[in-house]
Amino acid sequence: MNVLGIESSCDETSAAILSDGNLLSNLVSSQDIHNVFGGVVPELSSRAHLQIILPLVKKALQDSKISLNQIDLVAATAGPGLIGALLVGLTFAKGLSFSLKKPFVAVNHIEGHIFSGFLMNDKPEFPYLCLVVSGGHTLLLLVKSDTEIQKLGSTIDDAAGEAFDKISKLLGLGYPGGPQIQNASLNQRTDFANFPVAQCKNEFDFSFSGLKTSVLRFIQKEYGDASKIPTNDLPLIAAAFQYSAVKALIEKTEKALQNFKVNSISLVGGVAANQMLRDEFQKLSNRYTKKLVIPSLEYCGDNGAMIAYRGLKLHQAGIKYGYDFNAYPSLSDYSFIK
Ligand code: KG4
Ligand code: ZN
Repeated sequence: MNVLGIESSCDETSAAILSDGNLLSNLVSSQDIHNVFGGVVPELSSRAHLQIILPLVKKALQDSKISLNQIDLVAATAGPGLIGALLVGLTFAKGLSFSLKKPFVAVNHIEGHIFSGFLMNDKPEFPYLCLVVSGGHTLLLLVKSDTEIQKLGSTIDDAAGEAFDKISKLLGLGYPGGPQIQNASLNQRTDFANFPVAQCKNEFDFSFSGLKTSVLRFIQKEYGDASKIPTNDLPLIAAAFQYSAVKALIEKTEKALQNFKVNSISLVGGVAANQMLRDEFQKLSNRYTKKLVIPSLEYCGDNGAMIAYRGLKLHQAGIKYGYDFNAYPSLSDYSFIK
């Protein structure tokens, strides 16, 4: 079975071919047009998806040595994400499947991330504890099967990736913020400033807006404003922030590990690319003797491979989210996460 997976929910266009469970190609085109704006500009994103999607799908087919009429299933992200951006990939995929007379399946982007560990050779074992950390979402989940996902906690304000992006912007380090903060923090001490980890009413929830404010207050108190931070202090502030953000994610994950019986742990989403977070998850996995599955870097950020995989699973389960399925902006609109 050959599955074409298409992703266009934000600022990455991606096309992947999954053939009998083997990934033949996973092309990701990242839009750098947003960097100068310090964040994604939705209209620019839609236009860039439009320009790249056709050549990208063609190249994915070529690289896989698969012809268009050998495609058996077309899967595309339907949400959550930017409506205009989603519509490009979704409409393209629907049109293609219609013309090929092959089934189409709409995929939830976050569910794509949740199951992205299955793209690895060593796969998660149900039930597993999954931390989803992306630019728009932070979720702690108990994944019991392909269709049973229990939400233990989520962010009550900013997402983890959003916090990295905002602090990076504040420090003038650029967009996307995660990799910039990580690079700036490399080999720096983490105790230059003490930024607090927020406690929430639900012990598995997260909050990053207080952390953001405390970084801002620290800068105002020490330097007046961000433009006056001495060059030598920038990496130290970045490292202290990264330390607190990672600590918050680890603390809640550890609490969940103490409260729920699981067979493995998985860390997914764009922020799962963070090396400090990956290292801390490894330590957790050793301490609790739980199998750990963190996708390799190419499957942490947005990619078509995870959409193809999730699409295949939905199709095999007989779940039909077909042509009538429209783009939706938020996670609460549709998902198996309960
Ligand atoms: O999953 P993703 O690619 O897109 C969304 O679905 O949102 O996640 C993007 C987020 C951005 O906020 C980006 O700054 C963050 O992932 N990110 C990182 C790192 N690489 C990407 N955050 C921390 N450390 C990184 N190395
Ligand atoms: Zn994502």
